[in-house]
Amino acid sequence: MINHIKCDKLKEIVVNEEISYTLIRNEENNLNIVKAENLTFEYIRRDEEGNVESINKAIDNVNIDIKEGDFVAVLGHNGSGKSTFAKHLNALVSPTEGSVWVDRMNTLEHENTLRIRQTAGMVFQNPDNQIICTLVDEEVGFGPENIGVPEDEIWERVEKSLKAVGMYDFRLANPTKLSGGQKQRVAIAGIVAMKPKCIVLDEPTAMLDPNGRKEVIEVLHELNKKENVTIILITHYMEEVIDADEVYVMNEGKLVMQGKPRDIFSQVEKLKELRLDVPQVTELAHELRKEGLDIKEGILTTKELITELERIRGLKNVNNSR
Ligand SMILES: Nc1ncnc2c1ncn2[C@@H]1O[C@H](COP(=O)(O)OP(=O)(O)O)[C@@H](O)[C@H]1O
Ligand SMILES: [Mg+2]
Repeated sequence: MINHIKCDKLKEIVVNEEISYTLIRNEENNLNIVKAENLTFEYIRRDEEGNVESINKAIDNVNIDIKEGDFVAVLGHNGSGKSTFAKHLNALVSPTEGSVWVDRMNTLEHENTLRIRQTAGMVFQNPDNQIICTLVDEEVGFGPENIGVPEDEIWERVEKSLKAVGMYDFRLANPTKLSGGQKQRVAIAGIVAMKPKCIVLDEPTAMLDPNGRKEVIEVLHELNKKENVTIILITHYMEEVIDADEVYVMNEGKLVMQGKPRDIFSQVEKLKELRLDVPQVTELAHELRKEGLDIKEGILTTKELITELERIRGLKNVNNSR
């Protein structure tokens, strides 16, 4: 009997603890890895005497919450403020007004800077500017070494990161001899080796050929799914956005659209006003719709378009046979 009570009591405690553990985890899961609140940033140019010559408002009152574990895309025409936003996430610049938090660390507090840079790694457009070593494995180990990771662990991290981006076989290659896509994957491995919670990529595929672009985007999705790394991808290529969890569109420093890829790409005319393209297949579906075919908006893949066309053909056949 006593045992029974004990057991029941234990079960209750375990159950309660599990419930509270789940609650804590859920709360943690709901936390934003990035939060920008009323963020405004001005580039101020001064003359030699320090008088203000010009003010350029690059970010204008932007509010963004990015959930941990999401794959997020940021779109926008040239000069819309995307890179300036990315720089805030690495504490490379500080808000003129408003605040930015990375993993709950305010970027304005200087003592957070190092931890912020470890939490949110940055990958830039030109892979050549990011290469400093003559061997791929040294390149990837450079970051961890710099932050004082013990030797044994560095090589463990290098191996794991190179495998994660599919570049392990090239560990003894000279990074400058690699293709653009491979160089970017090495750059990503270098960031992954720092064990960031989040990777911010500022047009990482802009200088790559279609194959290289595909390699890089696939690697990012893998890291996101398998390692739960939050990905913030700034890009010009609409095809790279269709699998994102959330899409943000910036224009002239403002956040002008936010939503799931399908919602965003359902608004073809609005995107064109913002001087943005849509994926080719979305554009074709939109044009066919304008010509009178009853195709739903927001087609993102060739397969979806084919399904829609078959559905319409089916309807036609039914009508003709009546
Ligand atoms: N270092 C700088 N000094 C002054 N103005 C800048 C600087 N960098 C960017 N800008 C301006 O800030 C605005 C936003 O630029 P940017 O963030 O680079 O946009 P995007 O990455 O979307 O092309 C643009 O008007 C650009 O000219
Ligand atoms: Mg830019």
